[in-house]
Amino acid sequence: DKGTYPFYMLKEIDEQPNVMRKLSQVYLNDAGNPVINEDLLATLKQADRLYIVAAGTSYHAGLVGAKLFESLANVPTEVHVSSEFAYNQPLLSAHPFFIFLTQSGETADSREVLLNVNEQKFPSLTITNVPNSTLSREATYTLLLHAGPEIAVASTKAYTAQIALEAILAKAIGMVDGQAAAKDFDVKQQLALVANGMQALVDEKDTFEALAKDALLHTPNAFYIGRGLDYDVSLETALKLKEISYVQAEGFASGELKHGTIALIEKDTPVIGIITQKNTAGLTRSNLQEVAARGAKTITIVTDDLAKPEDTIVLPAVDERMTALLSVVPGQLLAYYTSLNKGLDVDKPRNLAKSVTVE
Ligand code: F6R
Repeated sequence: DKGTYPFYMLKEIDEQPNVMRKLSQVYLNDAGNPVINEDLLATLKQADRLYIVAAGTSYHAGLVGAKLFESLANVPTEVHVSSEFAYNQPLLSAHPFFIFLTQSGETADSREVLLNVNEQKFPSLTITNVPNSTLSREATYTLLLHAGPEIAVASTKAYTAQIALEAILAKAIGMVDGQAAAKDFDVKQQLALVANGMQALVDEKDTFEALAKDALLHTPNAFYIGRGLDYDVSLETALKLKEISYVQAEGFASGELKHGTIALIEKDTPVIGIITQKNTAGLTRSNLQEVAARGAKTITIVTDDLAKPEDTIVLPAVDERMTALLSVVPGQLLAYYTSLNKGLDVDKPRNLAKSVTVE
């Protein structure tokens, strides 16, 4: 039931602070330590490499997760698109562990990989929003996202739930052998900060609607740019914009623009820069100046500690590893309001289905 909301997507964007709190309740004890199946953790600990396999938005959540697993649990992690991995399996490490990220648990491309993985007798975990879904039943282990049903075709709260659960799991793996990075990472406090930060963003809907009308409503194309985690989020926010508003949008590693794509920048082409990482903030700012000099309409989404007076959207500060949970929200809302103001059916974009059960 969407209640007073015109579309499920907006309701689901608004539910994200509560999803963060719910995951904290379900998976963290009072002391803030993860409560995760011991058997799963022992199996994960034997792995020399994690392989995250997923499609679409879930793939984008995997890109963020890989950085969490590497930095908090010190385990090398690769992320793969399901439909590619299924028919072009790369050389694997000696002891691989597979993580399937799938909101629906029914994505055929991901299931094809799981069938291959089971044939090779490798251990696996499905992280899904749907209990008893196919990928949940067929993997060795399951963790649930507890995000509540996601009805809008464009995924929002499942993406942030996947990242939050990956952060919890990464801490849990690192804690097994007492790694300092995991011990020092207060995931409970971070999720509380994230929930409050998300609330502050979703309370600013008018700002995002005005921005969408000004920069995105009449443009044929748009770019999101960033580096590192910000690049990962730029891929997701570009996907949101294209799938529901039909603006041709691309997420780019900001350093790559000048290697070809900058040729597409014309007067008023929107270029949205995401800046949440200290080590690359200056570089992405220079890249934005380069496109502005060629006429682009630039918008910045920047964390508080890196913000300058001229920035467009300022995000509350959280741990640098958790910024994706906040920086994605403006992109979700910009996509929503672009679609809404075009008079489109936000929840049911053309040519798309909620769960993709064919390869
Ligand atoms: C985009 C979107 C899709 C799904 C993809 C995978 O908003 O929803 O890209 O993320 O089809 O679906 P799941 O996560 O159900 O495997």
